[in-house]
Amino acid sequence: MAVGIFDSGLGGLTVLDAAASALPDVDFVYLGDNAHAPYGVRDADDIFNLTTKAVERLWDEGCDLVILACNTASAAALKRMQERWLPTDKRVLGVFVPLIEALTERQWGDNSPPREVDVKHVALFATPATVASRAFQRELAFRAIGVDVEAQACGGVVDAIEDGDMILAEALVNSHVDALKRKMPDPQAAILGCTHYPLMQDEFQKALGHDVKVYSQADLVSASLGDYLKRHPNMIGSGTQSKFLTTGDPVQVSQRATQFLRRKITFEAA
Ligand code: DGL
Repeated sequence: MAVGIFDSGLGGLTVLDAAASALPDVDFVYLGDNAHAPYGVRDADDIFNLTTKAVERLWDEGCDLVILACNTASAAALKRMQERWLPTDKRVLGVFVPLIEALTERQWGDNSPPREVDVKHVALFATPATVASRAFQRELAFRAIGVDVEAQACGGVVDAIEDGDMILAEALVNSHVDALKRKMPDPQAAILGCTHYPLMQDEFQKALGHDVKVYSQADLVSASLGDYLKRHPNMIGSGTQSKFLTTGDPVQVSQRATQFLRRKITFEAA
């Protein structure tokens, strides 16, 4: 009964944590490609090649369903994987759609035509590759009409978090929020479109002001995963053990993960 969760590094742990508390009977195998993080500055082919390799590694652990808990991989590689690469007995799901369904006040999996929604001015904070892909705007356009999206590519934030330099991460968050506000002074909602950013959620909220609704993915993705598994129970794979795998240095990655999640996490080499 195992599901795979993949991220370029530590950010997907925010999704893993929410999913593991919401679905205590499911084992989760987490794979962080820390050796190649950040993905957000790589080109689409590179991201596709790294992501498919990581997903294959999770299949070896008995995970037929893999969540790409990485917006950059979801934006730059998921469509190509689903259209041209994925075998019919496997599934890979991304993290964008649950977020957009929540923003556009839809039930999980509601694919009815686009309609007007309450929120009109949305700030998107994401990696340079996610912003360049315009995947968020494309998925939003399938579901909502008349929403103005201003995207801010948040260079450096993922590197600072992966290095455990939270002072630099906070300074970068403040400067990216300032840059966004120069383009869109009064966003109604802000999307944290990178799974690393919930680790800086308080800083984003403080810089944006408390009247801006900040959407982050962990709880939304885990709720949508629970709904998906109810509808597709056969996609829970044969794996029987939760574990944490990394392509990086397991000792260093375990220390950072333990610091972020405030509980002991032990990574093994992938
Ligand atoms: N957590 C990944 C995401 O959601 C980080 C991207 C990166 O490695 O740059 O986009």
